[in-house]
Amino acid sequence: MPIRIAVPHETTEGERRVALIPSVAEQLSRQGVEVRIQAGAGCAAYYRDRDYTSAEIVEDRAALLGEADILLTVNPLVPEDVALLREDTIVIGFLHPHEFDDRICALRDRKITGFAMELIPRISRAQNMDALSSQASIGGYKAALMAANLTARFFPMLTTAAGTIRPAKVLVIGVGVAGLQAIATSKRLGAMVEAYDVRPETREQVESLGAKFVDVKVNAVGEGGYARELSAEEKQQEMEILARHVAAADAIISTAAVPGRPAPRIITTAMVEKMNPGSVIIDLAAYSGGNCELTIPGESFGHELVMIYGPLNVPGMMPVHASEMYAKNLFNFLSLIVRDGEIDPDWDDEIVTDSVLTRAGKIQHGLTCERVEGSKGDPS
Ligand code: NAI
Repeated sequence: MPIRIAVPHETTEGERRVALIPSVAEQLSRQGVEVRIQAGAGCAAYYRDRDYTSAEIVEDRAALLGEADILLTVNPLVPEDVALLREDTIVIGFLHPHEFDDRICALRDRKITGFAMELIPRISRAQNMDALSSQASIGGYKAALMAANLTARFFPMLTTAAGTIRPAKVLVIGVGVAGLQAIATSKRLGAMVEAYDVRPETREQVESLGAKFVDVKVNAVGEGGYARELSAEEKQQEMEILARHVAAADAIISTAAVPGRPAPRIITTAMVEKMNPGSVIIDLAAYSGGNCELTIPGESFGHELVMIYGPLNVPGMMPVHASEMYAKNLFNFLSLIVRDGEIDPDWDDEIVTDSVLTRAGKIQHGLTCERVEGSKGDPS
């Protein structure tokens, strides 16, 4: 029997991405895998059922789930869906290890092997599987477009018969994958860009994109190349230096995040109130609470003539390319799970062992296990 890979319709409200696009489904079929897609699964991303020429379109969701060997998803399955899977099915997708404990417990209790794309280590060899990066780069790009769209000013410098317009000043807070893309896109639109991060190595990256680095004199490199939370003293220092840059900005794109923690609160109400009327803040950290203390996740509103927008699921707003990049990430990851036509995860590979969230009735990821069960777990 060939391996059956199933792709269900996403059920999360507002989700437009799909885990597999037609060309990647075809690549899998060429490897001898049977690909089954739930009817309409790609529709919101503009991939029609008839475009999946090498896959079987299945109307019955329960049958699709119950007959899957491997299930590919964008969002974590709800417990009702997990109950339909056979024990030992492999689920691969964003499994949100930091939240949705009921979904994680459902995977554990059903003895599902769940691989969380968020847990793939950020090492060079795993770059083509790094879905956090592929989706974050979309977020950064789109955030710059949103800022340009919402601000009451031009981004580029314009010399016209009616006078010269100076370029907009954009401040990017947090220079990870999304921040770098936001800088590059704002620069392409002609803005003057300043940026800062608490990881000192970002200075070179910011300058290589032609932007100015704002040095807040804080070094907060944490585990795995991510930032750590700042102490109260560091936070104070950061905010003091930042305040004048916030006041001078026409647009702010904030992306600062610490994995598994609420977003650092960096932009205070007082700072917003010193911004120029007609300025805009795009808070990409809204999903984890926001970098601006006024942000309301998912909403846009004015505060003292400054527009504040905290968009959620920005990659889902560009579902064609977001799905394409995500499907390619999944395809590359699958090469470590399906080997020589068999389901045979390479358990000697750190990419596989680091990304496994649940397996054999246990939560395998230490921090998640600690949070959900109160113990570190036994990854055996
Ligand atoms: P993220 O989404 O977790 O955070 C975004 C940015 O916010 C980070 O650059 C972080 O340093 C910054 N930040 C956190 N607290 C802050 C504060 N108080 N003020 C200002 N900035 C703050 O990060 P992302 O984009 O997921 O990248 C995480 C790391 O992974 C980075 O070091 C990145 O270079 C690295 N990476 C490595 C890859 C590879 O080698 N394969 C691929 C992609 C990322």
